[in-house]
Amino acid sequence: MFKLKEGVRYSINHRRNEVALVNLVQHSYLIITKDAFNNIFMKKNLDSKYTPLVYYLKEHGYIEERKPREPVENKVNVKPPAPQVKHVYWEITHRCNLRCITCFASDNIAKKDLTLEELFRIAEKLASYNPEIQISGGEPFIRHDLMKLLHYLKDELSIDRVVILTNGTLLKREYLEQLRQWDIHFQISLDGATPETNDSIRGKGVFSRVMNTLNMLKNAGIENVTVKMTPIHLNIHETDALRMMIEEQYGFAFSSSLFEPSGRGINLHNDENTKKMLVKFYEQLSNQVTAILKKLSDNCSVISEFPVVQYVTEQITLNGYPLCSVGRRDGFMIDSRGDVYLCPSLRDNEFKLGNILSENVEPVDFLKRWEPPFIDKFERCNTCPVKYFCAGGGCIARNLAFTGKLTEPSPYCKFFGVITEAVIYDRLHEQKDCEKIKQTLYWMNGEFKKEAEKYK
Ligand SMILES: C[S@@+](CC[C@H](N)C(=O)[O-])C[C@H]1O[C@@H](n2cnc3c(N)ncnc32)[C@H](O)[C@@H]1O
Ligand code: SF4
Ligand code: SF4
Repeated sequence: MFKLKEGVRYSINHRRNEVALVNLVQHSYLIITKDAFNNIFMKKNLDSKYTPLVYYLKEHGYIEERKPREPVENKVNVKPPAPQVKHVYWEITHRCNLRCITCFASDNIAKKDLTLEELFRIAEKLASYNPEIQISGGEPFIRHDLMKLLHYLKDELSIDRVVILTNGTLLKREYLEQLRQWDIHFQISLDGATPETNDSIRGKGVFSRVMNTLNMLKNAGIENVTVKMTPIHLNIHETDALRMMIEEQYGFAFSSSLFEPSGRGINLHNDENTKKMLVKFYEQLSNQVTAILKKLSDNCSVISEFPVVQYVTEQITLNGYPLCSVGRRDGFMIDSRGDVYLCPSLRDNEFKLGNILSENVEPVDFLKRWEPPFIDKFERCNTCPVKYFCAGGGCIARNLAFTGKLTEPSPYCKFFGVITEAVIYDRLHEQKDCEKIKQTLYWMNGEFKKEAEKYK
């Protein structure tokens, strides 16, 4: 008789008659048949055809001998990841020249910004960790001393990776050469492929100003630029057009992040808008799958053109904690008062970790003040076949914003569930068998279509 070793969990996929064994300590997993699972754990006498499998599972740290009446699964909780300061999202100002209707930062109105000297003190505290620093706001370029801060971060403190999150309307040409020399990365927001759509979200005239900035950056030879869109019911239909424009015309990267109804964005959050967005979101996924299916010939490598599969594959951490930085405990956000929060979308008092200026605390110790929720605490995920891989639907702030609970999945659950299942059970990202890829894609397509129908 056998039991799972401490830190090993299982999830059953009834539809496929398979079971995933996940070693949350060693961060590995294995898919076995339900028959093998039942035979190994539930029956007294092992079928001899499973002897090699049992040997393998023992060798690789999944199972061990079980005494009579001992449970199959050890319930001891797995420890959360050790805190690390790898990413810092830093709002250096609350001020902004725009009033985007989605903006989650807008409820964070401090009376005034910190001084440059105070920003230097914060930067010094962070320097020994050499984290990726994302300079955000408000609008970072509204601060006239931004270049001095960048000089300090790059030339004095040698921070390797600095990213500026900007609305792209205030960047001056005369800064470009210096920004290029410092290898500053840019994330520029754009919320549509047309002026009408973008400007209905970000304000009149913003589209053409951002286009000018993109041209300026391209002409200055700055390559590390990502254009970022936040799809909502008003612009989600232009996601693919914007992606193509940015990648083909500019050669810049494109990314989109899911809308979180917080800050000013709360005003947009009602059932009608959410339904409209979800219908389009799932229809768009279905269209993407259909387009890939059309392209499939004998060479099934076009599966690499399905960016969300890549995205989900890269996210999987196999530790049973949420996949966002809050779950990984590898970073935090600092607001324009120096207050430290778990992330830009979790800034209620209960998520406040302290103040980096007024407290004499090592930055990494802020993260010890909070423990992320383990996936076994997510009731609705309990019977999900990918629960230890998806770990509750990515960003838990989004869960909270949509459902009122960090541990209750948001309506994007199906998106994570379907893609994660394809990656884990069919190994879609590395699958070579063309027929298998097609079958998986047909299944995915059906699931996304059903989900779109659900919200109509
Ligand atoms: C808050 S802005 C600050 C930096 C800069 N002002 C800008 O607009 O890029 C940072 C990013 O968050 C995105 N964003 C704003 N509100 C959001 C929301 N409710 N959900 C998800 N992303 C949001 C913006 O579009 C932008 O890409
Ligand atoms: S999203 Fe950025 S540009 Fe828009 S209002 Fe918020 S901080 Fe300003
Ligand atoms: S969020 Fe959805 S897909 Fe992810 S583990 Fe929970 S139930 Fe499964």
